[in-house]
Amino acid sequence: MEKKKVLGISFGRKMSNCDVMVKHALMECEKAGCEVAFLRADDLNVSNCTGCIACTIGLMTGRGRGYCVRHDDFDILDEAVMQSDAVILACPTYETSVTGRFKTICDRIGPSHDITFRKAAFEEGMAAGKPEEQLPDKRSFKKRQAALISVGGAMTENWIALTLPMMFEFTFPMAIDVVDAVEYYGAMAHESVVGYPEMMERMTRVGQNIVASLNAETEEERIAWRGDEEGMCPVCHTRLIQISHDKKTADCVVCGSHGTLSIDENGIVNMHYTKEELERSRLRWGGKLEHSTEIKTKAQPSGTIKNLAELKAPYAAFNPGVFAVEKEAFGNVKED
Ligand SMILES: Cc1cc2nc3c(=O)[nH]c(=O)nc-3n(C[C@H](O)[C@H](O)[C@H](O)COP(=O)(O)O)c2cc1C
Repeated sequence: MEKKKVLGISFGRKMSNCDVMVKHALMECEKAGCEVAFLRADDLNVSNCTGCIACTIGLMTGRGRGYCVRHDDFDILDEAVMQSDAVILACPTYETSVTGRFKTICDRIGPSHDITFRKAAFEEGMAAGKPEEQLPDKRSFKKRQAALISVGGAMTENWIALTLPMMFEFTFPMAIDVVDAVEYYGAMAHESVVGYPEMMERMTRVGQNIVASLNAETEEERIAWRGDEEGMCPVCHTRLIQISHDKKTADCVVCGSHGTLSIDENGIVNMHYTKEELERSRLRWGGKLEHSTEIKTKAQPSGTIKNLAELKAPYAAFNPGVFAVEKEAFGNVKED
């Protein structure tokens, strides 16, 4: 039988916490018979998404396969993900959230890898008799799982609050099921995570959890949540809830599940979701399809505002530039 492939990606510094944590989990997968690969995001030269949306338009019109017009090292990451059966990601916390490079890579994954866009383009292309090589990569539809690891130096947990939630931006477009997640804060209290046996043991379990998910015999077992805490959302198991404007209901920020809140006699806050609302989660097919359909049906094509150039002209002509550098400026502004 072909070995299962596990890809680890570290978004941290060379041989610092994220590298070590991902490698440790990968070693566990290798011990269990998986083929493993490791990428350091900072070794890749990936440029920002320019927002041209050629990738999505290509998928919607059937003229493209969902690729970016830019070809850089994102292609290396993309191919590695396509080959993988599971991914293990670790990202440092910068300013309470993911690093800029993490976000850049997520934007490049973005709508172009959304499986509802890709699947529709693939099926329509097949029905039209197009050769498979002109259609979205069918490896996009492979079921995969992930473990997410967020790392923060600060001793106070809320300084890493947005990192793990943001890390789902990597997995949700491709419908990769997150089966384990670890939030490691206080990392600066240890010279290196290698000197923190409890966290290294947790990384052993990350590897084991990925292997268990890969070896699952049923779909239910494959996607079973293996994290330490259930969280507030039964779909993504995170705890980041946004209260609605009416202050009566709330959304899971990560996956969009909408529900109601209650506080029980012990002061425990509970979220209640209907089955229908959970199906609208952007981590599930229903929620994804709802989103791609709203874009396909509601987004306006160019040419709908007849005098657009005229309306924009004052803004195009308005270019105040930056403030003049003050004489006493002592920052990084280069002197003439
Ligand atoms: C620009 C910058 C911002 C940071 N902001 C935070 C932060 O908001 N919260 C936190 O817990 N740690 C913060 N840190 C610390 C890193 O998360 C920490 O050093 C982490 O271990 C980096 O991962 P690595 O060791 O794998 O490189 C910041 C570090 C840098 C360089």
